[in-house]
Amino acid sequence: MTKIAVFASGNGSNLQAIMEAIRGGELKATLAIVICDRPGAYCVKRAEQGGIPSLVFRPGDFEKKEDYEELIKQKLWKLEVEYLVLAGYMRMIGPTLLNSYPEKIINIHPSLLPLFPGKDAVGQALAAGVKESGVTIHYVDSGMDTGPIIAQEKVEILETDTGESLALKIHRLEHRLYPQVLQRILGKKEE
Ligand code: GRF
Repeated sequence: MTKIAVFASGNGSNLQAIMEAIRGGELKATLAIVICDRPGAYCVKRAEQGGIPSLVFRPGDFEKKEDYEELIKQKLWKLEVEYLVLAGYMRMIGPTLLNSYPEKIINIHPSLLPLFPGKDAVGQALAAGVKESGVTIHYVDSGMDTGPIIAQEKVEILETDTGESLALKIHRLEHRLYPQVLQRILGKKEE
């Protein structure tokens, strides 16, 4: 079974969806570890409740990104992790991890990239007054939400939508789409 690591910084609802898909057999992978850059974040609790080990660190405790990414890399190598799955990880991935896992780092973003990269993509879409937004799953490169797109799916934005209702629609879509697309990627690898 392919080993994956999920990187998260906050709530971790996508982490939860991935754990459930693995448990249900829809996603054939082993979640070896959860990496979190925010001690106390709810995603760490979710990992614990799911019986998944976590590596939690405080970036401020390190002199530079390279130092904590080196620590993460050592851990991932030891566990023989093959894919890095970013799910609400609020940091750019640096060369230490990018060079060790070429085309093996995947991210989910709550907009139809290249539209609305960066923070608060839902708020950006509403502010722009567009009629649809969606979710993008893409490979990670050194840019901000710029890597090659793997999958996209749309959601309609209604006149009545608020930040909250749109975020909810997008999350629902993410929770279905991310495990499906991950399975497609990992399944191809097995062929
Ligand atoms: C998701 O909307 C994801 O697209 C973005 O960050 C959010 C994380 O949500 N990258 P959660 O922590 O998985 O609930």
